Amino acid sequence: MTDAVKVGFVPFSTTPRGVLVVFSDESMKFGPATRKLLGAAAETVRRAAAAAQFKGKSGSALDILAPAGLKVGRLIVAGTGKSGSLKEEEYIKIGGTTVGRLKAGTDAVTVIAELPGGALKPDQVAAIAAGIRLRAYKFDRYKTKKKDDDKALAAQISIAVADVAAARKAFAPSNHVVDGVLIARELVNEPPNVLYPAEFAKRAAQLRKLGVQVEILDVKAMTKLKMGALLGVSQGSAHDGRMVVMRWNGGNRGDKPVSFIGKGVCFDTGGISIKPSGSMEDMKGDMGGAACVVGLMHALAARKAKVNVVGAIGLVENMPDGNAQRPGDIVTSMSGQTIEIINTDAEGRLVLADVLWYVAQKYKPKFMIDLATLTGAIMVALGTEHAGLFSNNDQLAERLFEAGQETGEKVWRLPMGPEYDKLMDSKFADVKNAGSRYGGSITAAQFLQRFVDETPWAHLDIAGTAMGAPSTEINTSWGSGYGVRLLDQLVADHYEAKR
Ligand code: BES
Ligand code: MN
Ligand code: ZN
Repeated sequence: MTDAVKVGFVPFSTTPRGVLVVFSDESMKFGPATRKLLGAAAETVRRAAAAAQFKGKSGSALDILAPAGLKVGRLIVAGTGKSGSLKEEEYIKIGGTTVGRLKAGTDAVTVIAELPGGALKPDQVAAIAAGIRLRAYKFDRYKTKKKDDDKALAAQISIAVADVAAARKAFAPSNHVVDGVLIARELVNEPPNVLYPAEFAKRAAQLRKLGVQVEILDVKAMTKLKMGALLGVSQGSAHDGRMVVMRWNGGNRGDKPVSFIGKGVCFDTGGISIKPSGSMEDMKGDMGGAACVVGLMHALAARKAKVNVVGAIGLVENMPDGNAQRPGDIVTSMSGQTIEIINTDAEGRLVLADVLWYVAQKYKPKFMIDLATLTGAIMVALGTEHAGLFSNNDQLAERLFEAGQETGEKVWRLPMGPEYDKLMDSKFADVKNAGSRYGGSITAAQFLQRFVDETPWAHLDIAGTAMGAPSTEINTSWGSGYGVRLLDQLVADHYEAKR
């Protein structure tokens, strides 16, 4: 992965280098360390602010040639708006917008972590540092000719703080979570000729370095398990499917694990029910759920989360071929339920059916949360701002909602019920894999629910949030890494053993 910036912490007393970033809120005052640093230059800054009508509003900035006396070239005064009661998410965004103002080629940046009210607390500093790294990520591995604007930032960003040791300690876990997000983005961004199921499995296996147990099941192993639903999708591809099971045992021995299941369709052509060619290239991101699970496993293992976790991903490629499955085929899932294939483009649910069933039976988890770029319909319903949430368990759904509010990776619950479930009954088999257009995301969730047994379960439809969402303060990459911070927060809030 291209790590565009290096973030470190230095004491307030360090002489700043390169571009100097200081913060100001709408009071237009500076904190004591900033005042000391600016010295006589503070008056010049005030006049420049007045001339530019800079009022410290959130997201705004005063960007000037550094006044004489400062040993830096450029000075950026970044507005934070009202700074009294900022939430963690807002500090993350402040870090992101700070990076957004830097130009490619900048090599050194010093950020003074202080607001007019005084030095930022270690947690707030950590959030800014996380925002910096999230925003700085760029996927440019395949660009051999870079124009100036394409060049990644290669900067050392020093955050000046009151207490360096405390800042480092606070940032350590969130730094691992950022790594997890970047891993997920990288997997989503990779082209499908490079990232096919076996290659994806190989990348997931790198989690072993962190003490994660990684088991890779090939077609033979899945055939033995009678995973006819997943294998039916996979059979039209020259690239064999895989299932990868990742286990992190950071909790008490014998404690039931929590579990996360991801849709990993490395490329979705639609199969015989082939998709139109417009934007079909986006279907390289149809493994966004699996990417999130790998990124999350990285985050949890690297920060040594005190919890037992199972991550499981179904990796396939959905292709049309002489050997591809047909509409009308009836396959037998691992659960024993038969499925009539109505539309080969409703493949994600087939993959998940077998992985969900496998995890439910084998691990008897505390809960299962699956993530999947499952339906175009969820983008019609919710756009790119919320993931769709479906659940058979109110407590789990509420906890996910709260974690979404905390992290800004928001979810919105949609209804389920027996009337919707009936729409998935098949004329010839136990269930069919596609209903009508109406309520397409809900009927997809009803299908999945038939494979979770009695396990508390939630399904996140991330088709609108995992890829192609508009750029934000903390992400400009096509793959967003959506879900890693959300689920890390959920685990941290509710499922870790007390230290
Ligand atoms: N991977 C797609 C869903 C998708 C569409 C994700 C656009 C991201 C962007 C999924 O496999 C699919 O094709 N779903 C169908 C289901 C239908 C055939 C019942 C859909 O949404 O049209
Ligand atoms: Mn599809
Ligand atoms: Zn798909």
